[in-house]
Amino acid sequence: MEQYAIKGGNPLVGEVEIGGAKNAALAILAASVMTDETVLIENMPDVRDTNVLLQAMESIGVIIERVDRHTVKINGAHINGLVIDGDYIKRIRAGYYLLGALLGKYKKAEVAFPGGCNIGSRPIDQHIKGFKALGANVDIAHGLIKAEAEHLRGGHIYMDVVTVGATMNVMMAAVMAEGQTIIENAAKEPHVVDLANFLNSMGANIRGAGTDVIRIKGVQKLHGTEYTIIPDQIEAGTFMFAAAVTRGDVTVKNVIPKHLESISAKLIEIGCEVEESDDAVRVVASKRLNHTQVKTLPYPGFPTDMQPQIAVALGLSSGTSIVTESIFENRFKYVDELTRMGASIKVESNTAIIDGVDRYTGASITAPDLRAGAALVIAGLAAEGITTIDEIRYIERGYEDFPQKLRTLGAQIEVVDTEKDLQKFKLRVG
Ligand code: UD1
Repeated sequence: MEQYAIKGGNPLVGEVEIGGAKNAALAILAASVMTDETVLIENMPDVRDTNVLLQAMESIGVIIERVDRHTVKINGAHINGLVIDGDYIKRIRAGYYLLGALLGKYKKAEVAFPGGCNIGSRPIDQHIKGFKALGANVDIAHGLIKAEAEHLRGGHIYMDVVTVGATMNVMMAAVMAEGQTIIENAAKEPHVVDLANFLNSMGANIRGAGTDVIRIKGVQKLHGTEYTIIPDQIEAGTFMFAAAVTRGDVTVKNVIPKHLESISAKLIEIGCEVEESDDAVRVVASKRLNHTQVKTLPYPGFPTDMQPQIAVALGLSSGTSIVTESIFENRFKYVDELTRMGASIKVESNTAIIDGVDRYTGASITAPDLRAGAALVIAGLAAEGITTIDEIRYIERGYEDFPQKLRTLGAQIEVVDTEKDLQKFKLRVG
């Protein structure tokens, strides 16, 4: 089974290019089927989640042409089925965006119940509530969510929780509904705005994305477009924290610094220098990190997808830190793994109390989910000795060329498949 083998101790230094935002890409790819004309998407991250979604789209007759690794042409004129099933789609979260996209276009869709990282119960009641408000019948049976409507008509939806997934799904279903839809208490994440911009470039009429009230005037149909996906806020944030934890000096390039503000603010608070330019952010960590408190919140708050990475940094800081997870209830599974590396962390309900230690030591650990997996890689890069990380398929869901990018910054990390590979790695790194 493939693992990452890491020899820690090198400060990460240099520049790294950030790819397109996975969570924006997933919604935008799904929304591309809503016109019969061809759509060209650029800056698509080449990660497992996007590739699985593209396969699912192909399985119903969508024509996908991979122009290059990060550019794809999509044509949804010849869709021949509205049922998306299969083991692969169940493993990703974003399959459900096809529900909103196909319901919006054909007034009917059936999609396997979503999977994704096991970080909490992840209900979809707000998606269902939104579809129903647009006049659809929604039924869950045999592991499929079925949505169907005679006519979709605009509705007024107040989201009971701030949810990225439901905001984007309902937005897609509403763009061709008759009349006006209002989504209140909408998510404000950059990828919500990106999806709205994309749909507007196809002829939709969406206003207010990025605020908590989104207004959508239904249009008759959508047309083809060419669109470039925004940079990945979480990939960028992960490299920024990798710089902090290894006491390095890393410039993340091709980013939108505004999207990184909550991350930059915490890095400054714990003692890093952060320099912003137009499309890059440099993080320099020259001394031991300070402790702090952080609570995950919807955008523009500190992202839940950065919670494990900041916890790894605080685990090495001076003093006691408190991390509160307010979005997902089961997002501390990495703590046991980090404890094997010497961290001192106590979890009480949705709070982790972290007593900073002087060092982590290499250990054999397992990635419990995507972001926690990336955070454990960062811990390994800072640890004394060798760390091996299993279940890297989770990490590959959302990080393109993660080991390669880290190596350009001076990290010693490799994918190994056998004990012999691991021994070779150990001999090479000394
Ligand atoms: C998306 C991201 C994920 C990120 C999360 C929060 C994708 C593929 N995944 O997940 O990486 O961690 O946003 O930024 O884009 N909720 C309900 N009912 C619903 C929907 C959600 O109660 O119908 C709750 C969830 O349990 C959670 C909160 O709302 O507590 C936020 O979830 P949501 O923003 O929907 O997350 P996802 O879209 O699943």
